[in-house]
Amino acid sequence: MPFRTNRFRPVSIGAAPALHAASQRALIERSARQASRRQRSGFVLYRHITTARLEEHDEARTMPDIFQSIDDLDAASLQRVIDRLEFRGTYAPFVAMREAYLDRLDLPPGAKVCELGCGTGVVSRAIASRRGFDGTVQGTDLSEALVAEARERARTEGIENVVFRAEPSGLSGKADNSCDLVVIHTLISHVADPAAVLAEAMRIASPSARIVIFDGDYASLTCHAGRPAKDAEVVETLLEAIVANPHIMREIPGMLVDRGISLEWAHADVLMEAGHADFFASLVESYIPMAVRAGLLETSGAEDWLHQQRAASESGRFYGSCNFVSYIARA
Ligand SMILES: C[S@@+](CC[C@H](N)C(=O)[O-])C[C@H]1O[C@@H](n2cnc3c(N)ncnc32)[C@H](O)[C@@H]1O
Repeated sequence: MPFRTNRFRPVSIGAAPALHAASQRALIERSARQASRRQRSGFVLYRHITTARLEEHDEARTMPDIFQSIDDLDAASLQRVIDRLEFRGTYAPFVAMREAYLDRLDLPPGAKVCELGCGTGVVSRAIASRRGFDGTVQGTDLSEALVAEARERARTEGIENVVFRAEPSGLSGKADNSCDLVVIHTLISHVADPAAVLAEAMRIASPSARIVIFDGDYASLTCHAGRPAKDAEVVETLLEAIVANPHIMREIPGMLVDRGISLEWAHADVLMEAGHADFFASLVESYIPMAVRAGLLETSGAEDWLHQQRAASESGRFYGSCNFVSYIARA
């Protein structure tokens, strides 16, 4: 039974194909060493021992997630990522969060904007085509495939004041002090080295520039379909596949203080769906299959869980929520 939504077709997970990336293989090998293998309610869940890892390595809090190696995904998985990013780009509550921070920015005429981790260019395109914006935008991303998608969408939409650049280093290619605004929108939760992202933002930001950091406080993510323990466990495992730094938005204030960056504005929204799932349906339908492919969830258990989520949504019993946090900082 599908989620009740016009926008998503539930996917069939199927058998996990060969792994797609060396990093994912490394993740699985590490997982196999660290995992607790649990038999619960008829399905097997492979989990990292996240808490233990955090205690051991207070500074190294990240695990690889799929967003660190998008170009290694198979075509179907890549398309799911593209569809998911584009869905978020038109999902009204998500758009409202982006517009809320953009509304607060007083950009100079001809502003130069750089988005780090632009993906398909949802945010870069939105800024470039915003009413009253007369500047230029550069979006950069690790992924050649997503940058190609971003270029094609900008071309189709007729947006000419935006360029996209694939940068395997994760850097922007921008000169020092050259940008009036640096946007880090749902990037920092995914990277191996959040401090390096902040350092790049500070390097390219002009003295009067703003740096926006927007992301999910993914440690708050909940998808509830009536089996709280299993729901929480699967969500935690899903996060291991798709979010390297689920607590990073709680750490940003401290990271800014340590670097002498002033925090000018902080805001949080709770994105919540009660009854029927749309945003969260897209989330789990897009990424649960990837958690299976990464060896973190066993196929039939994942299908069973997805079935429960769909049934809860169909019968109006679904609950999902996640906090999203916006920061505007000044270097
Ligand atoms: C969740 S997506 C967000 C994309 C876009 N900002 C949006 O909101 O639609 C995360 C993006 O970060 C990119 N990425 C991951 N690590 C990166 C890094 N170190 N430097 C630049 N981009 C990176 C991924 O390729 C992916 O496109």
